[in-house]
Amino acid sequence: MNTAPLTRLFPTPSELRPLHGLYLDDEFPKSQAPFLYGNYVTSLDGRIAFKGSDEGDGVPEDITNPRDWRLFRELAARSDVMLVSGSYLRRRGAGSAQEILALRHEDDPDSLEAWREQRGYPPLPDIAIVSRELDFPVPLELSSGKRRVFVITGRDGAGSDAARLREQDVEVVCTGGEGVRGDELVSILERRGYHRVYNAAGPGVHRLLLGAGKPDRLYLTFAPRLLAGDEFYTVVSGSRLEPASRFRLRHLYLDADALDGDGQLFACYERT
Ligand SMILES: NC(=O)c1ccc[n+]([C@@H]2O[C@H](COP(=O)([O-])OP(=O)(O)OC[C@H]3O[C@@H](n4cnc5c(N)ncnc54)[C@H](OP(=O)(O)O)[C@@H]3O)[C@@H](O)[C@H]2O)c1
Repeated sequence: MNTAPLTRLFPTPSELRPLHGLYLDDEFPKSQAPFLYGNYVTSLDGRIAFKGSDEGDGVPEDITNPRDWRLFRELAARSDVMLVSGSYLRRRGAGSAQEILALRHEDDPDSLEAWREQRGYPPLPDIAIVSRELDFPVPLELSSGKRRVFVITGRDGAGSDAARLREQDVEVVCTGGEGVRGDELVSILERRGYHRVYNAAGPGVHRLLLGAGKPDRLYLTFAPRLLAGDEFYTVVSGSRLEPASRFRLRHLYLDADALDGDGQLFACYERT
């Protein structure tokens, strides 16, 4: 992977920083309550993925790149638990999803698992799957016992899908009701003692979290591409938020070498 440094544009004064370690070194508060953060790569016109694409996971190749993926994995390495959606596991079962659960990557020899172990963390963060349908296959590597995997659902846990998941050693936590609410999700994570929660799901789970006053922090990568196309996902779904959720810029880095030298911006926002 290209090792060109990044330029910090904010806060000033500007300085050069290596890509590797940028988010491993980012300061996180030491609170007991779950500190929840998310991360998206987006085009300039706000597309993070397209709906109903025939192949792939919908995230356009025009905006994905190894340097952004490296930072995605660094954020995963910082977490106690990663949130993913049932729909991600369905896409993965169909062979069309990106690998987001592993910390290793063939192009990236740095071992983030070793980084965690040196700090006394288990090699991999746990996985919390948010789902209504419960109809996804559990990937083999998730039922190997290396990390705790559990599902949070609004559905009654007595059905056959829940039984199938339990047979694969996946715990099913039921909140009751139509779907999981954001405050229920956060309090389940809190009761389980998680301090750092990485939302690796998409706009639907993000919306749940906003309803609970989360996420605390949002990492956004802006790829300088206009994509258009009407059926797309943006970072958050659902009806208009009134009042708007407020965030304040925490840092901004220019990655001038990325995307054929057109560059990309790594921004981080803190909730106000
Ligand atoms: N560019 C980026 O950085 C980025 C980042 C993340 C995702 N994406 C893309 O965005 C697209 C959507 O991703 P996604 O499907 O993971 O996003 P999502 O909208 O967060 O997940 C939707 C799924 O979450 C579950 N869910 C949502 N609300 C629920 C509730 N109240 N109770 C219980 N379960 C609930 C449901 O799973 P069930 O269907 O199992 O019930 C639902 O289908 C994909 O194309 C993905 O690749 C892009």
